[in-house]
Amino acid sequence: MIKKVEPAQKLTGNLSLPADKSISHRSALFAAISSEASVIENYSAAADPQSTLGCLKQLGVSVHQKGSRVEIEGVGRDGLQKPDSQLDCGNSGTTMRLLGGIVAGAGVECELIGDASLSSRTMKRIITPLNSMGCRIEGRDGEFAPLRVSAHNGVKGIRFPLPIASAQLKSAILLAGLFGDEPTEVVESLPSRDHTERLLDLASEPFGTGKIIRSSRNDVIPAQNYRVPGDFSAAAFWMVAGILNPDSEIHLPQTGMNPSRIAAYHILKQMGADFQKTAPSNTGKEPVANLLIRSSELQPIRLDPNLIPNCIDELPVLMVAMCFADGVSVISGAEELRHKETDRLSAMHKILSLSGAKTELKEDGLIIHGNPSFTPEPARYPSFHDHRMAMAAAVLATRSRGVSEVEDAECTAISYPEFWTHLQEITR
Ligand code: S3P
Repeated sequence: MIKKVEPAQKLTGNLSLPADKSISHRSALFAAISSEASVIENYSAAADPQSTLGCLKQLGVSVHQKGSRVEIEGVGRDGLQKPDSQLDCGNSGTTMRLLGGIVAGAGVECELIGDASLSSRTMKRIITPLNSMGCRIEGRDGEFAPLRVSAHNGVKGIRFPLPIASAQLKSAILLAGLFGDEPTEVVESLPSRDHTERLLDLASEPFGTGKIIRSSRNDVIPAQNYRVPGDFSAAAFWMVAGILNPDSEIHLPQTGMNPSRIAAYHILKQMGADFQKTAPSNTGKEPVANLLIRSSELQPIRLDPNLIPNCIDELPVLMVAMCFADGVSVISGAEELRHKETDRLSAMHKILSLSGAKTELKEDGLIIHGNPSFTPEPARYPSFHDHRMAMAAAVLATRSRGVSEVEDAECTAISYPEFWTHLQEITR
């Protein structure tokens, strides 16, 4: 499907964000291996978190979904059953890596598969440490899906210094660690999103400039009874769209504000964004607040590479913002973007170049020559079958001088099924 994006006069309105994707996955996975029943409110309708629910059902977990309310009868950490067929993780790296940690730790014989994009993303980062814990998990050519998991003779606790600041990797190891008698210790030097540690109440302590997080069979897996917050990563598209379009005012109630996720909020503020945050509260273990976004003029920025893990999913739309800043912005230390649903560094370089923006592609980042009077050329943007590329291109296109097109627009359903309707709703 090709979507036409009209230039906007202004963007105004109140949007109900999709439920947080990362928290939705975790709420269901942790509810499944808890020995209690859970009721999760506002579970995401997006394709990725729905893939997680599908896999859990195949593992014998009773999952009842009524709208966005999901009831899960926890089977306990030893109650997962061998599935009759392959577990299809679809496009979802979080499903494959987190569920991979659980089934490998539990020693449930199964095979995890994914779509073409997921099958081309390396899983070696989880395969090697999981096998060193005594789990048995193999991949095609040693690193790709399908991943085959076999029974094992027990999980050994390891101390694992994270070689990459990845929450998916951290979570996979901690989840497998839940099945070991001795503690597994993950050493994190650069913080990445901490939903797993929060929602499982895992113990941690400072270690050097970072921290050690521990998991073992002694950890009681809590029921997951809460309302999933609005997805900050979805909010980021409207934050940038609202800043860039004149006379805009966008309200985003109940947005997830977990400090390990919201570097983009601080980065945009530092660049000059006019944001207001009101009514801070908590839902379960996660902070939320209402956000108000207004049009603003932006200064360029040189991003601190240590913040990359805390804005990894927001970088594509931050790049769009940087095109309109008054000078040169620099992103470095972002090589991980090459390992997402597509190579997001190359893809964004292509999208921005099609719009006429001046950017330089580096091995680990992008240099963006911004200009406050930049007006993107009307263009036909490829989405590379990547939801975040499609949405970043759409935000860029709202500032164009003419109608643009986004190819393969339905891929936004991976994280944000209502994206195109919401864009239409707030475009004046
Ligand atoms: C996620 C972690 C991030 C992020 C992904 C979701 C998670 O991946 O890009 O969209 O839910 O843990 P990495 O941790 O591999 O960087």
